[in-house]
Amino acid sequence: MKETVLSGIRSTGNLHLGNYFGAIRNFVRMQYEYDCFYFVADWHSLTTHPHPKDLHTNVKTILSEYLACGIDPEVATLYVQSDVPEIAELYLLMNMNAYVGELQRTTTFKETIRKQPDNINAGLLTYPVLMATDIIIHKANKVPVGKDQEQNIEMARRFARRFNTIYGADYFPEPQGFNFSHNLIKIPGLDGTGKMGKSEGNAINLADDEKTIRKKVMSAVTDSGPQKKHQRPAGPIHNLFTLMEVVSTPDTVAHYRHLYAECEIRYGDMKKQLAEDILKVTLPIRERILQINSDSAYLRKVVRLGAEKARASAAKTLREVREIIGFKSF
Ligand code: TRP
Repeated sequence: MKETVLSGIRSTGNLHLGNYFGAIRNFVRMQYEYDCFYFVADWHSLTTHPHPKDLHTNVKTILSEYLACGIDPEVATLYVQSDVPEIAELYLLMNMNAYVGELQRTTTFKETIRKQPDNINAGLLTYPVLMATDIIIHKANKVPVGKDQEQNIEMARRFARRFNTIYGADYFPEPQGFNFSHNLIKIPGLDGTGKMGKSEGNAINLADDEKTIRKKVMSAVTDSGPQKKHQRPAGPIHNLFTLMEVVSTPDTVAHYRHLYAECEIRYGDMKKQLAEDILKVTLPIRERILQINSDSAYLRKVVRLGAEKARASAAKTLREVREIIGFKSF
């Protein structure tokens, strides 16, 4: 039997090139190797973004973007968290065995209440319980997440184990973080520092139009040029080459590396080429995003199919959990 992989996607912000070459291409590949559940964590988004105006649009955007990148709703189970009420019931049950002290000590809780001192809601405190529920309701074995989520996976493991101990049942598997960092390509930002990120404001979004992308690339940070021959590109120029290695052909990269080594490079030319090659990746995705986003009938079909598959799996778990806890029907 295939192992079960599950990942929750936060429903805020647009996907950028870094997301694409990082996690998403791996998600697409994994759907053929595992039994994959991917869902939009819209309940979780309420802990920080309680705005009715944006909620639906954000969910729709995320769904369109994932579908456009190649998540196949017939292969993976792609669903919206709030379409699966079974998660809410299991969350309630899991809350009975989660201790306030351990939740208060969670790093993400401490960080978030520092960021939003005016809205320290109970949903924030129990965020790890909801996340654990998301995972164990499908008895997922593997959860691909970044470093910032490792503690939440650790908590999920702990809650699964505790459930098994309290009720003397060997029921929930202990989920493991799934690190695909060996084939994670880190995409640098265009501002000459660190990595591409939506909060860093240096990202090329998959949904950006041609003009925007050209503008972003042309205004990428550079330096005053190589000072002597056969120098290694450093800082912002190293970043430009890194990006180029991901999107351009080896010949193109070799050509510009040669010009750099000979101190004959013109960054303007290099950026033009880079923008061209980025557009080759992003424009077809952008077109699919726009097309899917405007196709309500298709999205409705996707979401219904996802909910149906996710609810079938969740309902089975919930039936068994009720029995283990001791609920009986009259
Ligand atoms: N907390 C995750 C994040 O911020 C999103 C998430 C919610 C999630 N539920 C999950 C991730 C379950 C993995 C599994 O990115």
